Amino acid sequence: MKTLTASLISVLLSTTALAAPPWGDADPKAGYQKHQEKCAACHIRLYGGDGSKMYTREGRLLSTQLDVLQRVAACNSQVHSGWFPDEEAEVAAYLNQQFYNFTD
Ligand code: HEC
Repeated sequence: MKTLTASLISVLLSTTALAAPPWGDADPKAGYQKHQEKCAACHIRLYGGDGSKMYTREGRLLSTQLDVLQRVAACNSQVHSGWFPDEEAEVAAYLNQQFYNFTD
C-alpha cells in the first residue's frame, strides 16, 4: 500500500511538472505592457480594432504553449524589441492568458 501511495504521488507530481507552462511563473501583466509598446501597433494596422484578431483569426499559426513562446521570441528578434528571454516569457504568458488559452 505504501508503495502504491508513493507511486501515485510520483505520478501526480510528474503530471504537475508537465502541466507547467514553458514560461514558468512569468507575469502576464508585465507582458501586456511590453506587447502594447512593441507589438500591438503593427497588428492593429493589419487587422484593425485592437489587433487581437491576429491571435484569434481563422487559420492562426500556433497550436501549443511552446509555439506561443517561440513565436514571441522570433517576433522579438525580427522587430528588434530587445527583450531578454524573461521578458519574452511575460509576453507569451500574456498572449496565452488573454487569447490562446492553450493548456499544453
Ligand atoms: C511590422 C509588423 C509586426 C510587428 C511589429 C509585430 N508583428 Fe506579429 N505578426 C505580424 C504578421 C504580418 C503576422 C502574421 C504572419 C503570418 O501570417 O505568417 C504576425 C503574427 C504574429 C503571431 C502569430 C499569430 C497567429 O497565431 O497566427 C504572434 C504570436 C505575433 N505576431 C506576435 C508578435 C509579437 C510578440 C510582437 C512584438 C515583439 C509582434 N508580433 C510584432 C506582423 C508584426
